Amino acid sequence: MHELHDILEAKNYIFSKTDARPTIGMILGSGLGMLADEIENPVTIPYSEIPHFAKSEAIGHANEMVIGQLKGKTVVAMKGRFHYYEGFSLDEVTFPVRVLKAIGVENLIITNACGAVNTNFTPGDLMLITDHINLVGANPLIGRNNPELGTRFPDLSKAYHPELRQKALEVAAKQGMTLQQGVYAWWSGPTYETPAEIRMIRTLGADAVGMSTVPEAIVAAHAGISALGISCLTNMASGILDQPLSHDEVIEVAGKVREKFVNLVKGIVEEL
Ligand code: HPA
Repeated sequence: MHELHDILEAKNYIFSKTDARPTIGMILGSGLGMLADEIENPVTIPYSEIPHFAKSEAIGHANEMVIGQLKGKTVVAMKGRFHYYEGFSLDEVTFPVRVLKAIGVENLIITNACGAVNTNFTPGDLMLITDHINLVGANPLIGRNNPELGTRFPDLSKAYHPELRQKALEVAAKQGMTLQQGVYAWWSGPTYETPAEIRMIRTLGADAVGMSTVPEAIVAAHAGISALGISCLTNMASGILDQPLSHDEVIEVAGKVREKFVNLVKGIVEEL
């Protein structure tokens, strides 16, 4: 379990590398890392250098923090994240969110690639996360609570901040982009779901399913960070179409909608 002094060590290391003090954070999921390349005056810090960060091996992820300016705002982008399915503890998965809070982040845009459970959606659509369902049965806040980091029993009724969501909808409308909205269910992975599990997940009220985001959103809520979640629906979830799911397909579709995704996130950053 990470302690406050671990968080402060990571913060001090980052502050020793840059004078920039970002209040906007972004966690960039599969295929979106190049958004960080658009950050001006970038200071890049590999996760491996940051005290107490775990090391990620997921394909397609660069594993570095990029701090600089985007659309005139000082931002910090996490290029690559830690996943539960890689074997990291949820404490390791969410430690970066604690560090973002410590360096001054107030608004956090969490992105991911996920499967569409709602059959009205189409691969390549973007979805604003309105709420989540935690199907994993684990929670990053299990364990002793440090009241300096947040309250013991956090409220999650506004985990995906309504005002930020409204802004995202306005930006999407201004850009003439269709932005779906829905509930994201967290699946541990690394297997994709079975068709029966997808039917269950739909019955439970989810519109999309993926293997990230929820632990980070929980810790953001605990830390008092306003979070926004945006998903790229890269595929129809298991059993909807008569075809197997593959990571290649996920990466390919994420790549195709990259420009739309990047423009949406940049447009939102501009409004923050
Ligand atoms: N299920 C879970 N995670 C995913 C999917 C999916 O269908 N697509 C991309 N990430």
